[in-house]
Amino acid sequence: MTDTVYQRCIHPHCAATAALDDASFECPKCGGLLDVAYDWNRIRPPKSLNEFEAKWADRANPLSFSGVWRFHELLPFAPPEKVLTIGEGQTILQRADGVAPYVGVDTGRLYLQYEGMNPSGSFKDNGMTAAFTHARLTGARRAACASTGNTSASLAVFCSASGLMKAVVFIGSGKISYGKLAQALDHGALTVQIAGDFDDAMLRVRQVAARLGIYLVNSINPFRLEGQKTIMYRVLEALRWEAPDWIVVPGGNLGNVSAFGKAFAELSELGLLNRLPRLAVINAAGAHTFQELHTRLSLRWNAGRPSTDIVERYYADLDAATVRASTIASAIEINRPVNLPKALRALDRCGGVVREATDQEILDAKAKVGACGLGCEPASAASVAGARKLRQEGIIAPSDRVVCILTGHQLKDPTATVAYHSADQKTFDEVLGSRGVRRATFANRPVQVPNDIEEIVKAIEVFS
Ligand code: F0G
Repeated sequence: MTDTVYQRCIHPHCAATAALDDASFECPKCGGLLDVAYDWNRIRPPKSLNEFEAKWADRANPLSFSGVWRFHELLPFAPPEKVLTIGEGQTILQRADGVAPYVGVDTGRLYLQYEGMNPSGSFKDNGMTAAFTHARLTGARRAACASTGNTSASLAVFCSASGLMKAVVFIGSGKISYGKLAQALDHGALTVQIAGDFDDAMLRVRQVAARLGIYLVNSINPFRLEGQKTIMYRVLEALRWEAPDWIVVPGGNLGNVSAFGKAFAELSELGLLNRLPRLAVINAAGAHTFQELHTRLSLRWNAGRPSTDIVERYYADLDAATVRASTIASAIEINRPVNLPKALRALDRCGGVVREATDQEILDAKAKVGACGLGCEPASAASVAGARKLRQEGIIAPSDRVVCILTGHQLKDPTATVAYHSADQKTFDEVLGSRGVRRATFANRPVQVPNDIEEIVKAIEVFS
């Protein structure tokens, strides 16, 4: 292969390649996952990460304004004029001293990367701008995804904002929060509700995309992950290009952790970063395939040959017991993560661990984050709940510098938040009690008062 950019099988013993504009997203030889690969000798990477800071002075240029394309030199698969950006990636790394005691780390050591500030309200826009740009290179007219809600919202926004493609989204019936469903509908996506869950929808969308030649934007698409690498570049930039000790991220389809691992591996290979952070992936306890496979059953990357036996047996057991994913963190209600091998590779490279958090732990962590000024959806708070657990286990030290990724905005799923804080036991029981959540440990209950000025004044004096 003489191209400077191409796709390559992630398994070193196969290493088959595909052309840049191939949109099948499957190794032509072994059917495995693909990476976007660059011939860095011919592309000429940046000499130092500091170079990116100069882009801040050039913000009238949409590519410099985008928090993704500001790092174009590290994902150089498309010429600048082909890039489609809607101003994604304007996100912040916030020092979270108010949450640090809850996690159990020293003041000044906990940071939250707030991806809810993206145009569609989740980290997905980082990947969607890259996938969309690649779709344009291939001349696609329609793009599809299966989604627990955020990928579909992001795709719908990119399609409606650009008018360049029609969005087709597959969602499980009754499995998507209203905030996210509202986005798909409002932005004009063809919304296909399947009688099943995300894992069913994922299987179907792959079949349909192959049959109808529709461009697939799920994270099996390696170009999407190129965009998601930039979340790590922004974290490093905010820390003056010094890696933290830990990156903690919720795990669903395992696209983020895969992208983060690739980002760090490349920076290291290019000699741009000396020390890598460790990665921690946090599953919801009701959707804990990765925790089970990696932590309990010791599945490992194994130089590109992870045991297919362990995985197949695990899925067969799930099927035999008719176990379906179930968690209040609906964004990560996934039992068959498509990026499993890439995630194993990422953990192998970065000394990673996997843990799970219960719905109770997730909602308590979310309330703590909310009380400190950042609104996130339940799945996002799994990162904070997981960091707390790893600290309690002694794996994270109090002095470690820890970055938790808050993947989606609070307003994506107001039902879970309102039920947690509600004074109405029936609402709590209906939404949360049925999921094993017993207490709203940090509830901020609304105060009920008669419509009477004296009573209202009295209530305010008592409660404030
Ligand atoms: N957090 C949020 C808010 C998400 O929407 C997702 C995934 C994840 C975490 C998990 O990320 O898949 O990279 O491990 N949502 C997908 C969707 C599946 O369809 O919106 P991952």
